[in-house]
Parts: sequence; C-alpha cells; structure tokens
Amino acid sequence: MQVRVAAGDITKTETDCVVVNLFQCVGAPGGGTGAVDRALSGMLTELIHSGDIRGTWGELTLLHTLGRGITTPRVLVAGLGKSDDFTIDRVRDLSATIARFLRAKRVQNAATIAHGAGIEPGDAGACAQAIAEGAVMGTYRFDEHKKADDDATILKQITIVESDQAKITAMTAAAARGVIVAEAANFARDMANEPSNVLTPTEFAARAEAMAQAEGLGCRILDRDECTQMGMGSFLGVAKGSGEPPKFIVLTYQGAGDAKPLGLIGKGITFDTGGISIKPAAGMEEMKGDMSGGACVIAAMRAIARLKPKINATALVPATENMPGGNATKPGDVLRAMNGKTIEVINTDAEGRLILADALSYAVKLDLSPLVDVATLTGAMSIALGDVAYGIFSNNDALVAKLREAAAAAGERCWEMPMFPEYREAIKSNVADMKNSGGRLAGSIFAAFFLKEFIDNRPWAHLDIAGVDFYDKEKGVLVKGSSGIPVRTLVNLALAQAG
Ligand code: BES
Ligand code: MN
Ligand code: ZN
Repeated sequence: MQVRVAAGDITKTETDCVVVNLFQCVGAPGGGTGAVDRALSGMLTELIHSGDIRGTWGELTLLHTLGRGITTPRVLVAGLGKSDDFTIDRVRDLSATIARFLRAKRVQNAATIAHGAGIEPGDAGACAQAIAEGAVMGTYRFDEHKKADDDATILKQITIVESDQAKITAMTAAAARGVIVAEAANFARDMANEPSNVLTPTEFAARAEAMAQAEGLGCRILDRDECTQMGMGSFLGVAKGSGEPPKFIVLTYQGAGDAKPLGLIGKGITFDTGGISIKPAAGMEEMKGDMSGGACVIAAMRAIARLKPKINATALVPATENMPGGNATKPGDVLRAMNGKTIEVINTDAEGRLILADALSYAVKLDLSPLVDVATLTGAMSIALGDVAYGIFSNNDALVAKLREAAAAAGERCWEMPMFPEYREAIKSNVADMKNSGGRLAGSIFAAFFLKEFIDNRPWAHLDIAGVDFYDKEKGVLVKGSSGIPVRTLVNLALAQAG
C-alpha cells in the first residue's frame, strides 16, 4: 500500500473515492468536508439534517456522486464521534476501519482529508503518521497459504490531501515514517502467523538474515555447537526435546560511534507444546505464535535500519521449539545458564524464561544497555490485563517512563506491574540456585523475578505480551491473528534513545 501526501483541493482530486469526516452534533460541516458539501450543492448538510449522517464514532456513509458536481464518483463520510473524545488513537483506528471498508467496496485508490489535523490533540504530522499506520496495518492479511485474492480486492493507494502548503513537508515525512513502522509490524505478523512447520527456528533465522542483508544490518546466527561453547545450557535444555535444530539470532545496528547498544531481546519459541509438562489440546495451535516477542524485536530492527536513529542497537532472539521428545528436559532436571546460575526445571512449560535466561546473560556479556525483553511469557498476564494492555516489569523508573511514552504514542497500551521484593521468595529451589516455576499465584511477576536473575542489575524492562499478541477479531489497526504489538513501542523507544 502506498500512502502519499499531496497539496491541493480535495474536491478536485482524481480518485475512486474521497474521504471526508464529521464530528457528532455538527450541523454545518467545515474544512474539507464543507468544501465537498458545497461542491455537492449542500447534499451533506441535507443528509445531516435528515438524520442520515450523524457523525457518531465509526459511522461510515458512502455516497455515490456519479461524478456530478465533483470529479470523484464516490464520497465516504466518516463519523469522528464527540470532539471531546477524539484522540490520535482514534485517527489511527478510523483510518484502519476506512481502509478495510474501501477494500470491501473494491476501491483501489482513495483521497482523504487529514482527520484531526489542526485540532487537538494531534498536529498535522502525527495525524498523517496515524493515517498511514492505520491504513497499512488495518488492511494486513495473512494469505500465504490461501488461494490468491483477485487483484481488485487490493487497496493500492491513499492520498492525504492538505490545502495548507506549509504543512506538506512535515506531513510527507510523517506519513513515510508511519508506513515504515506499520510495515515493520506487518513483517512481525507475517512471521508470527506462519505455522510452525513452515517457520522452524532455521526458517526464522533465515528470514531475519535475509532482512538484515536487505537493510544493511549485521547478522550472526549461532548454531547448537556455538551455543554449547558459550555455555547456554538453559536455552539448549529447552531445545533438547526437538528434532529441529535451535538457532540463536543476533542482529546489530550501528548508528552512533561507540555508544552502548540498546538491547532488544525476544522470545523465539516457534512452537510451544509445553514439553514433557505438555499443554492441553484446546487452543494449542495458538502456540505457533510463541515467537512473537522475537518477531517483534527483529521487525523493530528493520524499522530502525530504515529510520536510522543515532544509536546502536542489538537484537537477540533464541529460537527453538519446545517439544516432548525422547531426549527432552524433564521436571526435576537442573540446567546451567550462561552466567553460571543453575535452574531446577519444575515445569518444562515455563520454557520462555529458560531461553531468555541465556539471551539476557549474553546481552550482559555484550554490554548492551538498557535491556528490553519481549515475550509471550505467561498465561497469567492475560488473566491480569486481558487483551487490552501488555505488562511492563522493570528495575528502572526512567526506562519505564520512556517505554510508557513510546507505547502511548503508538497507541499500544501497557501497564506497569509491581516488583515488590516479597515476590522474590517464591524463586528459591532446594537443589539449584532457583527454580523455573513458583506455583499458581502471581505467575507473571514470578517470571519477571526469574529473568531479573540474569540482567546483572542493568537497566532492564520485561514486556509480557502474552495477552495481546494474538486476536480473533478485527479491532482498529488489529486484524485477526498476530497483532504486531509492541513493534511500534520499540521503534519509538529507539528514536527516543537517540534524543
Ligand atoms: N507461551 C506460554 C505462555 C502463553 C500462554 C502465551 C497463553 C500466550 C497464551 C508459556 O511458555 C507458558 O506456557 N507459560 C506457563 C508458565 C507456567 C508453567 C509456570 C503458563 O503461563 O501457564
Ligand atoms: Mn510454555
Ligand atoms: Zn511459551
């Protein structure tokens, strides 16, 4: 999908459909909507008075002009709801809803006014970025393994038409940024939606490597032998039950001299059966997405490579299946992580923290800082926050503040979870330095305390995305399947790190 910004008069635009908008309770439309209304001899005003168009949030009214009074054959009026409720998140979600509607109507090319530009809370640039993100993420679909759609169902281009020439440069750059981050989110979705027989650890690594090559990132793929040499006994303990060879993916971005690289660490379980502590059958297919955290950090690196902030960044993704094989790790087994700490495996289904233990140890060895790990780590996360927000666990308030700001700007909701020292008690093992499962209570916090054993007190944040990685319905920029959350949070954080 192409998103462009053009200076001009929306009523004179050659396009399949012109998109205008209306706040609720507005009797006489202004701006671009007013201009279209006048070109249509007051048709919109009449429809507002008759109650056919009300401007309620998400209301879409398609009018067929047949080219009379205005060059475009179609006008779509989008309801913005009450002006007091209007936010940049609504611009993004509305853009997604509109793009899906236009696609369903077989519209290939549309021109839109910049919803929300000029009024609080967004400036024109933020609105252009939100419109681009909404359109690109909202029309995403995973049709790799389906009969190809016919070309007519593809929305090809959206042009944001702005009458104020002075805003064009900023809006053009912002829309381009929006396309880059949204395409990165879609790249993560493509990997997470892929079934595990296609996206094996080997294929996952190959896709990361191909991306790195295309974008000019450094890339190293460590195989089982190299991981053994480095002492990654915890990661390899998980990999033991699988016939698929594990891969440890390392991506590097150099955008600033010798600054400490930002460390982005992602869980890369390409399928989680639970291992010997096997999961129930119902819903297990969703565990093909247990590498979402890894996919998101790899995708964020692609956007970083394109946006070129003045920072260094390194992504680490341990990738393996978690399978109950004849050689699999069993409950009671003791593993030794790269930092020398030993772990009693109580539950082989608590495997994410085992592979992250080595990834975080490696991040420390590489002197990355701060560390941000992303993982579909605990089912308890969705019990706590549902599918609305992901959890942040951290040892550093300044990093949390930055992440919260980065997430808010992306419209990706997050919530900080407590790290009270009392929770740490549950980690103690009778036979090793710690155990990997602490029972039923506060499971997400226990997992975070486990990870904290491997960060050597560096500034660190752990994002547990288990509640928000996968959706079974459309919701604004989210479509069925993988969400691509928190790719845009990570990219915003990287941009903020550059100052
Ligand atoms: N990948 C799962 C967590 C998960 C569950 C993600 C549902 C998305 C949806 C993780 O590896 C896991 O199995 N966690 C266990 C931990 C427990 C055994 C301590 C859990 O949450 O049940
Ligand atoms: Mn598991
Ligand atoms: Zn898992």
